[in-house]
Amino acid sequence: MRSSLVHFPMKGLNLLHFVWCLLSLSFCSADIFTRFNDIPTSTFDFIIIGGGAAGSVVANRLSEDPKVSVLLIEAGPSNEGILNSEVPAFQQLLVGSIYDWNFTSTPQEALNNRILTVSRGLLLGGSTSTNLMVYTRGSSDVYDRWAHITGDKGWSWYQLQPYIRKASIHLFLDFLQLLISLSVIRMSVHSFNGTNFVSLAGFPSPIDSKVIGTTQEQDSEFKFNLDYNSGNQLGIGWVQSTVGFGVRSSSATSYLGPKTTRRKNLHVLLNTRVTRVLPVDDAKPLTVRTVEFTQDAGKTIQRVLAQKEVILSAGAIMSPTILLNSGLGPAEALSSLNIKVVHDLPSVGQNLTNQPNLPNSFLVNSTETLETVSRNSTLEAEFLYRWNETKTGPFVDTPNIFMGWFRLPSNSSIFEQFDDPAAGPNTGHFELIFSNGMLTANPPASGNFLSLRTSVSSPVSRGEITLNTSNPLDYPVINFNLLSSEFDFFAIREAFKAAIRFVSTPSWAGYILAAPANATTDEELDEYIRMTAVTQNHPTGSCSMSPKGASWGVVGPDLKVKGIHGLRVVDASVFPSYPSAHTQAPTYFVAERASELIKKDWGLGL
Ligand SMILES: Cc1cc2nc3c(=O)[nH]c(=O)nc-3n(C[C@H](O)[C@H](O)[C@H](O)COP(=O)(O)OP(=O)(O)OC[C@H]3O[C@@H](n4cnc5c(N)ncnc54)[C@H](O)[C@@H]3O)c2cc1C
Ligand SMILES: *[C@@H]1O[C@H](CO)[C@@H](O)[C@H](O)[C@H]1NC(C)=O
Ligand SMILES: *[C@@H]1O[C@H](CO)[C@@H](O)[C@H](O)[C@H]1NC(C)=O
Ligand SMILES: *[C@@H]1O[C@H](CO)[C@@H](O)[C@H](O)[C@H]1NC(C)=O
Ligand SMILES: *[C@@H]1O[C@H](CO)[C@@H](O)[C@H](O)[C@H]1NC(C)=O
Ligand SMILES: *[C@@H]1O[C@H](CO)[C@@H](O)[C@H](O)[C@H]1NC(C)=O
Ligand SMILES: *[C@@H]1O[C@H](CO)[C@@H](O)[C@H](O)[C@H]1NC(C)=O
Ligand SMILES: *[C@@H]1O[C@H](CO)[C@@H](O)[C@H](O)[C@H]1NC(C)=O
Ligand SMILES: *[C@@H]1O[C@H](CO)[C@@H](O)[C@H](O)[C@H]1NC(C)=O
Ligand SMILES: *[C@@H]1O[C@H](CO)[C@@H](O)[C@H](O)[C@H]1NC(C)=O
Repeated sequence: MRSSLVHFPMKGLNLLHFVWCLLSLSFCSADIFTRFNDIPTSTFDFIIIGGGAAGSVVANRLSEDPKVSVLLIEAGPSNEGILNSEVPAFQQLLVGSIYDWNFTSTPQEALNNRILTVSRGLLLGGSTSTNLMVYTRGSSDVYDRWAHITGDKGWSWYQLQPYIRKASIHLFLDFLQLLISLSVIRMSVHSFNGTNFVSLAGFPSPIDSKVIGTTQEQDSEFKFNLDYNSGNQLGIGWVQSTVGFGVRSSSATSYLGPKTTRRKNLHVLLNTRVTRVLPVDDAKPLTVRTVEFTQDAGKTIQRVLAQKEVILSAGAIMSPTILLNSGLGPAEALSSLNIKVVHDLPSVGQNLTNQPNLPNSFLVNSTETLETVSRNSTLEAEFLYRWNETKTGPFVDTPNIFMGWFRLPSNSSIFEQFDDPAAGPNTGHFELIFSNGMLTANPPASGNFLSLRTSVSSPVSRGEITLNTSNPLDYPVINFNLLSSEFDFFAIREAFKAAIRFVSTPSWAGYILAAPANATTDEELDEYIRMTAVTQNHPTGSCSMSPKGASWGVVGPDLKVKGIHGLRVVDASVFPSYPSAHTQAPTYFVAERASELIKKDWGLGL
């Protein structure tokens, strides 16, 4: 195993790391509290709910102005010192752990009524502290469609470029990786002075040559794409990940910075669950600026007022939940639960969209896969030792190696029934993701695998977040209606067939021993899909943006909640259509632009 996992030299690491430490001195870091009463001030201009991808960005950017006082409230604990979150290879150990909200879905009708687990990060950094670290922007079409839907050109690919560049910093671990990067990614589209690290894998995998081989053998169907983040996502490319110096780069490690430097005007309150947002008494027009929270699971309820604005960044599951509990949502549904309606907003929780995913595992004729490491605690300890001592070795990488997006043929029968749901010609209908081993912390006792996950990139199915009780501490009812649209079912079926074609090329001869399903007919394949599909953990759209004055939607293009003063939503719930990407990068972009919109509104330094 080890002989094939030859690592890249890391000579440049120490110098680069030193330079990074110097740079980071200008970074934001905050005073961190676990008890509200310990915070030395009780006057806050802005209160941000949720310290995930979006909330951390907004907290950083608003507190750049030293005159502004910011409170960031996070339900989970600190991210510091959590090994499983730091080691990229240990991501699967976080799913279903104490750092996971562990939501579940309702029985999904199209999936034989299976209940799905719904993972969300419960710690500083939110889901960016637990996610798979894939960095994908989607296509230029996606953002141009956002601009079109919202009537705000500011959301277009071109106008978002400054925010995209502020959000990420492309990193070269050493000279060799620089050379590889020069040939692998399009330098012109990446940023070298942004905030969150993005890098290529630090370690080669034994299946690299097979994947690349197929793109050469079957160029007409599976073309190679040097850089799927250039605006055109179509084709197979090397995975880019939010990893820096062999360590996960989350919104907490990047935007909330090392503890050594402190912004006295940014206060981070951990282990604190927000229950509701409340109107300011008698304020006309209707103004919502009070945040209600508990630090002891509901025994005591406290309140804090924002002088300027409250920014809701609790994510696509919890942001609509907090609004609904606050009486901001569909009036009839709230009344039936005896929740006092503060403002009728029929779209809150609606249009929830998520990607379905088939975790296909192919049995392979090899022992050089992740299973061999999982099953050998001596080997695992060796790799961990190496990671811990030098941040080198196989554990610097996430399980993902390559990924790619593809379109259904334009003469596919499904287009007789459906308009093309993709945002444009550079945008995929389905996605393939490769790992050299099963994507699980607990592989079966024997067998080695290729994971070739297939998913729908431009899903049509819509679900909803609703409430079951009037207790804000109860979990919401989450229904994705996954694969309920015939289009999505068609796309995931075709994606699976494409995966089979992919591994049937000469490159894989003698390697693949068995496909994950004995599906020779569409009926058998459909049953496999119903029995194995899960979510890709990318919910969006539940507090959607819509044009100013539209009768639907939750926030305007400026992210202010419709009909209300003092309250914005900034997170993945506001996406007005699916980004055809894994959702962390688009969330960072939205949060960077949102921060600037807020600063401009209040005349703060940009
Ligand atoms: C297991 C997993 C794997 C993923 N893999 C990838 C990937 O590889 N690539 C990718 O691009 N995306 C991935 N994602 C998705 C990506 O991480 C999210 O889209 C992104 O983090 C969304 O950002 P957000 O700010 O909307 O929400 P989050 O990052 O989830 O942040 C929300 C924050 O709000 C806090 N919060 C919620 N409710 C309350 C409350 N009532 N009071 C106080 N705080 C609250 C939460 O604890 C959390 O910290 C993955 C997600 C998961 C869960
Ligand atoms: C999620 O499940 C794990 C495993 O059962 C548990 O340890 C953890 O406390 C759960 N998280 C929450 C928020 O309940
Ligand atoms: C990053 O570099 C670009 C190009 O040199 C420059 O325009 C931009 O202002 C820089 N951004 C930051 C945050 O320094
Ligand atoms: C869902 O989104 C569509 C636009 O994609 C919109 O027309 C519709 O009104 C939305 N539904 C709700 C309930 O908001
Ligand atoms: C596995 O590969 C070896 C060569 O590496 C070959 O000899 C053997 O026949 C293969 N096994 C199967 C079941 O194909
Ligand atoms: C486990 O890994 C160790 C260290 O590389 C190796 O010496 C040993 O042979 C492996 N054990 C098995 C059962 O493969
Ligand atoms: C990593 O190294 C440090 C310092 O030597 C040690 O304290 C710590 O226990 C090590 N952690 C792991 C997981 O090996
Ligand atoms: C679509 O066109 C291709 C190439 O012209 C052809 O091979 C294929 O059979 C067509 N498919 C359908 C469903 O018509
Ligand atoms: C709704 O609440 C009832 C009890 O009030 C509970 O039995 C039921 O499981 C809940 N349903 C969901 C989907 O949470
Ligand atoms: C597929 O069918 C073959 C032959 O009937 C059987 O040996 C094999 O176990 C089946 N595989 C799966 C994954 O069901």
